[in-house]
Amino acid sequence: MNLRSIYYSLSPKSRFLVRKIYYYPVDIVDNILGKKNKYVPNKGDIFIGSGNFLAQGKHHLELLNKYADLKEDHSVLDIGCGIGRAAVALTQYLSVEAKYEGFDVVEKGIIWCKKHITNDYPNFNFRYIPLNNDLYHFTDDKAENFVFPYEDNSFDTIFLFSVFTHMQPLEVQNYFNEIQRVLKPGGKCLGTFFLYNDENEEAISSKKNKINFPYERENYRLMNEKVPSANIAFDEKYIDKMIKIADLKLENKIYGNWSKRTCEGLFDFQDILVFKKE
Ligand SMILES: C[S@@+](CC[C@H](N)C(=O)[O-])C[C@H]1O[C@@H](n2cnc3c(N)ncnc32)[C@H](O)[C@@H]1O
Repeated sequence: MNLRSIYYSLSPKSRFLVRKIYYYPVDIVDNILGKKNKYVPNKGDIFIGSGNFLAQGKHHLELLNKYADLKEDHSVLDIGCGIGRAAVALTQYLSVEAKYEGFDVVEKGIIWCKKHITNDYPNFNFRYIPLNNDLYHFTDDKAENFVFPYEDNSFDTIFLFSVFTHMQPLEVQNYFNEIQRVLKPGGKCLGTFFLYNDENEEAISSKKNKINFPYERENYRLMNEKVPSANIAFDEKYIDKMIKIADLKLENKIYGNWSKRTCEGLFDFQDILVFKKE
């Protein structure tokens, strides 16, 4: 059993607790030494992945500018906003006329965002939506039936960083449909995925690949059988089909280097898709 599978064998609540305890000494020292940036959560509270919080947020902003035509006055929706990694970067970019909405299934992230971001930037609004996700939050309410709490045609730009990589097919289809409904005509959505096709399916199912998906299902593969939302990779034709079903148009596909593909333009870790409402 490796560290990753031990982590996945814990309940969502225990995973949060383990992280908090592990980083407790570092967080205490940083706080005592006054090393803390107001807009960076304690390390023990950053449940959304490792890496430099501010640098990664800035990188997300660059991707949105480059691939989703994000502009300073846009209405934006950050689905699975976590603990505000992209939002913090966006506070330095969006104008006061712009509107930012973010939602997530983890309450502690939303509480942090409201306290640290909305207080200083009132045009940034965050909502806790208690939906089931076996990696993050256990409950009976299903994401596959969730109706986004926003009017039709209300956002210029929507994005999901590392969120579809933790969602099941019916949930993804529902989110595509809802994204189509709440995007303005001409609006774009950028999402990151783990995608495979006939060429790299064998490689990504093998344990030799650092990120691997050994468990085959129809049109998708799982990293961990017991925690299906731990990480999920989709057959890219299947995702293309779901995008079409939602009446969205795929605009751009930028492969990441997670699966060691050997094509040009590899840029990020996860694969990026940009789709548009026409
Ligand atoms: C890897 S984290 C990424 C967080 C954030 N997008 C970022 O890049 O910092 C995945 C996030 O997706 C959220 N999530 C999982 N299922 C969701 C759902 N059905 N709807 C909204 N958010 C969800 C999790 O709670 C978690 O915050």
